[in-house]
Amino acid sequence: MATDIKKLVAEMTLEEKASLCGGNDFWHLKAVERLGIPAVMVSDGPHGLRKQAEGGDHLGINDSIIAVCFPAACATAASFDKELIGKMGETIGDECQAENLSVVLGPAVNIKRSPLCGRNFEYFSEDPYLAGEMAASYINGVQSRHIGTSIKHFALNNQEYFRMSNDSRASERTIREIYLPAFETAVKKAQPKTVMCSYNKINGTYASDNEWLLTKVLRDDWGFEGYVMTDWGAVDDRVQGIRAGLELEMPGNTAENDAKIVAAVKDGSLDEALVDRAVERILTVVYDYIDNKVSGVVFDRDKDHEKAAAVEAECAVLLENNGVLPLAGDKSVVYIGEYAEKPRYQGGGSSHINSSKVTSALEAAKAKGRSVDYVKGFPFDKDEENEEELAKAVEAARTHDVAVIFAGLPDNFESEGYDRADMDMPKCQNKLIAAVAAANPNTVVVLHNGSPVEAPWADDVAAILEMYLGGQGVGTATDELLYGEKNPCGHLAETFPLRVQDNPSYLNFNTDPEICNYAEGVYVGYRYYDKKAMPVRWAFGRGLSYTTFRIDNICLSADSMDDDSCVEVSVDVTNTGDRAGKEVVQLYVSDLNGTPDRPVKELKGFDKVALEPGETKTVTMTVDARSLSYYEERLGDWFAPSGKYGILVGDASDNITACAELSFTTKKVVPLRIDGSVTIGELLANAATAPVVQQMMKAAAEQSPIMSEGADLGDGGKMMEAMMRFMPLKSLKSFGMMDDAKLEGLMAVLKQALGR
Ligand code: BGC
Repeated sequence: MATDIKKLVAEMTLEEKASLCGGNDFWHLKAVERLGIPAVMVSDGPHGLRKQAEGGDHLGINDSIIAVCFPAACATAASFDKELIGKMGETIGDECQAENLSVVLGPAVNIKRSPLCGRNFEYFSEDPYLAGEMAASYINGVQSRHIGTSIKHFALNNQEYFRMSNDSRASERTIREIYLPAFETAVKKAQPKTVMCSYNKINGTYASDNEWLLTKVLRDDWGFEGYVMTDWGAVDDRVQGIRAGLELEMPGNTAENDAKIVAAVKDGSLDEALVDRAVERILTVVYDYIDNKVSGVVFDRDKDHEKAAAVEAECAVLLENNGVLPLAGDKSVVYIGEYAEKPRYQGGGSSHINSSKVTSALEAAKAKGRSVDYVKGFPFDKDEENEEELAKAVEAARTHDVAVIFAGLPDNFESEGYDRADMDMPKCQNKLIAAVAAANPNTVVVLHNGSPVEAPWADDVAAILEMYLGGQGVGTATDELLYGEKNPCGHLAETFPLRVQDNPSYLNFNTDPEICNYAEGVYVGYRYYDKKAMPVRWAFGRGLSYTTFRIDNICLSADSMDDDSCVEVSVDVTNTGDRAGKEVVQLYVSDLNGTPDRPVKELKGFDKVALEPGETKTVTMTVDARSLSYYEERLGDWFAPSGKYGILVGDASDNITACAELSFTTKKVVPLRIDGSVTIGELLANAATAPVVQQMMKAAAEQSPIMSEGADLGDGGKMMEAMMRFMPLKSLKSFGMMDDAKLEGLMAVLKQALGR
């Protein structure tokens, strides 16, 4: 029977209630023994468990239990597979049940604003739609096991530089369109039990004090029902936090703040009902776990290791291939680079897993009896040139049919806590790849990295396979993909720019310790490169396969839509090659109305489909008014102007193969401000106010020679026309056409025409 939370709260003293609003130690909430309330435990995540010993330090990585490291979010996002990540979530939920963990701290959904963010490996994408869908599926998977999740870091925490204090400054449109939708989708589709607020400020207010963020947006707009906890040490003003909608302070050491809550209630500056509300929200989640505790679940590490390897095989992205892959069994192959033996498969910091075992590609190849030789070439953990190793690698490349270089970023190149200074791979690796590629045209590069790298050798090698940080089974997956036992089917969840300088945030990234200016607005990732028609190394959505696909026959269930309806878009996907494979179908929407300041296209749907050779399947995706909309600040709402929209379907953002047009009508109207600054042009463009202005101008033209020239906007000189179009009402006074009284009168008539 479910515990009666309200009754429990009613029985508590003010001091007990305040104490429950803070953690007991690094990983536990507080208990109230008198009432039988237990101290439940939470743990990092998100791609495996980092359950630490009592009193464990959150950045110490060695004292966590032995667990299973699944691919990090940089990899799982590239699967574009909601079902897959949902199943991974179920497994992690089961592991939590077995280990008595009530909440896993993830998923992390911050947008990859810059490729340099040290924590990008833990985040899903540069695209909010993709990040939101993947997060929702992960959460639904974990929570199906009655384990809570903590979607993080809410919000606008997109770099590590001064991450605990920096003020992220962005327009509301940018925030709503780019930085919040991943959280919004997750809340609406999966109700995470908890949300973790970030360290930083948002437009001047710490996330932990931010009522707009934690209550207006999260609860009132989206309907969040769980509780908000701080990131570890993110609390600012504890009492304001309670008012703002922050329920739990983490980690421990909260006695002083608990006392402040009590004092504020006693002196009347904090309503006790708000404390009750916070405790009720926390206990609802605690007891959802307690009341549904499943006993007898076993954390089978070997079995989950296999699952981790299977997930990774669905994530890896084949970026280039001239046909050298898959490797034929009769070819002599040399693996070069220490990652072949010691793969980099996870990132550093709070998500670090103490892995039960790690399978390398070399080990996997040996286990299968493949004829593979190995040359170290360069070290896995530093940028250190070694001429002897280089010479050996080149020689081995010459004497084998195929050279596979296992390259990537050493651990200390990217991590939680600091950002990268550039997008370079270690110099020793770039040099070796160039030398080996010159020695053998059949050179393949396998990458192990958490975020994009510059690849100056990209055009000189025969194939590139991006494994990302693929979890502890990465070697098995690499082996299966290289040898064609499995067919690569990941697609990029982020753009690889040619150079770091091309990234839209470049001029505003890590330039100021206090302020992070999101000056590029909504133009993040492909939204920017598309708009600038800028060449990139690999576009968002790209992913090759050992087979080929065709996407065609686009069909809309209706060719028009309004605010309340939606349209089903279907396409046929055919496997035109000779192997089974999976295609990622991507749907983008494009405003065709010349609406200023909109990206060329935006992802609004995707699906992954498995096809046998020659097989065709129909994929259906849904488009609604929100899919077409931008956030209109003047309306305080999502808005798409009536007009035409392109529906674009393809298998990469730069490979659209099926297009259709959709008409849309909306009843929403962007309010026209009526004050001295409104221009003649704006008033003429509005059907309600145009007749009033035309009338006014006609009358004015009879009196003023300036106006008579400008009144005829159609035929008048271009300059005069522009002058009038951009003339604010207040300026009419300067030309003797108005005085204060007349202007007041005109504005009253205009308001009347607008029904105000
Ligand atoms: C990180 C969180 C993490 C927490 C607990 C913080 O430093 O930002 O992502 O969950 O520590 O380890």
